[in-house]
Amino acid sequence: PILPVILSGGSGTRLWPLSREAYPKQFLQLSGTHSMLQSTWLRVADVAALPPIVVANEAHRFVAAEQLQQVGTTPSAILLEPIGRNTAPAIAAAALEARRNGDDPLLLVLPSDHLIRNVEHFHQAITLAATVAEQGKLVTFGIQPTAPETGYGYIKATAGEGPRAIERFVEKPDLATAEAYVASGEYYWNSGMFLFRASRYLEELERLQPQILAACRASWDKARRDSDFIRLDADAFAASPSDSIDYAVMEKTSDAAVVPLDVGWSDVGSWTALRDVSEQDADGNAHNGDVIAIDCRNTFAYGERLIAMVGLDDVIVVETDDAVLVGRSDRMQEVKDVVARLKADG
Ligand code: GDD
Ligand code: MG
Repeated sequence: PILPVILSGGSGTRLWPLSREAYPKQFLQLSGTHSMLQSTWLRVADVAALPPIVVANEAHRFVAAEQLQQVGTTPSAILLEPIGRNTAPAIAAAALEARRNGDDPLLLVLPSDHLIRNVEHFHQAITLAATVAEQGKLVTFGIQPTAPETGYGYIKATAGEGPRAIERFVEKPDLATAEAYVASGEYYWNSGMFLFRASRYLEELERLQPQILAACRASWDKARRDSDFIRLDADAFAASPSDSIDYAVMEKTSDAAVVPLDVGWSDVGSWTALRDVSEQDADGNAHNGDVIAIDCRNTFAYGERLIAMVGLDDVIVVETDDAVLVGRSDRMQEVKDVVARLKADG
């Protein structure tokens, strides 16, 4: 049985000023009629045997619960983190919860910040991955890379077709390395979604990251449970090293496999990424809201009020009630620096 684990703890700082600490991007309706969290559940509801386990920050408990309620699901559990310790501990807590009654389901780990166009193919890939995960593999889904993105993990698989063993997993390489990987044609991007037995993940954690497992186990053992939420013990959880599953487990395990995924995948990690997945006119301009673009190319505008642009190339404009962002589309990764500056200035 497949039990989805939805990771909803990110802060989405690169989508400022729309994405805010109190209301980060997974709760926003960036495209279509549902929030990213809601879409994450809806696209796997048909292959899931159980409602999802959601792992989120304490501060977002109500919005997470309410948004899932709106699309007709009551999660199997909502695990609340007192502070973010990145994805390896978040998934550990979910795996412990999944094993609570001695069950050992396949965990389908899902970030809550992805768009997937072809849901039918996605389901086929999950079914294929399940056959490998049943045999004890830690399965990732590999995307054909289109650019030397440094924000992704890179996966080299053994030669062949279908599910394959992973020869090498490199998280967030530098630009020169990413360029070489893409040029070689031998690497996939890691999609950030995983499928494995709960017990297999815990075993690998025990072997590779005993400190993370010990801290997560202690915080889960001491968790406070009320009817809707499971609050991980703050002190015990804070004692966990902060690390992502990619660095903590996937780079190090020798038991990983990759299933190729050709489904129109996008991680909506920046305004530029959102532009690229939005409907564009003949000149590559995209927008959400009321926009007039004269003699513009590859722009993206997002806002409530009318936005007019004249003679701009590769520019992003986002306006909200209290802030306006204007910047070059190839530098949108740096929006997180704006947020850092705002925080520093208080
Ligand atoms: N609950 C919880 N707690 N969720 C978290 C935490 C946390 O502390 N930190 C991150 N998340 C959630 C985010 O909300 C997101 O949905 C997901 O976990 C992945 O975290 P990101 O911070 O977005 O990771 P990334 O984009 O840098 O890298 C990952 O995704 C790439 C593809 O999008 C890696 O898996 C890369 O290898 C991969 O290529
Ligand atoms: Mg991401």
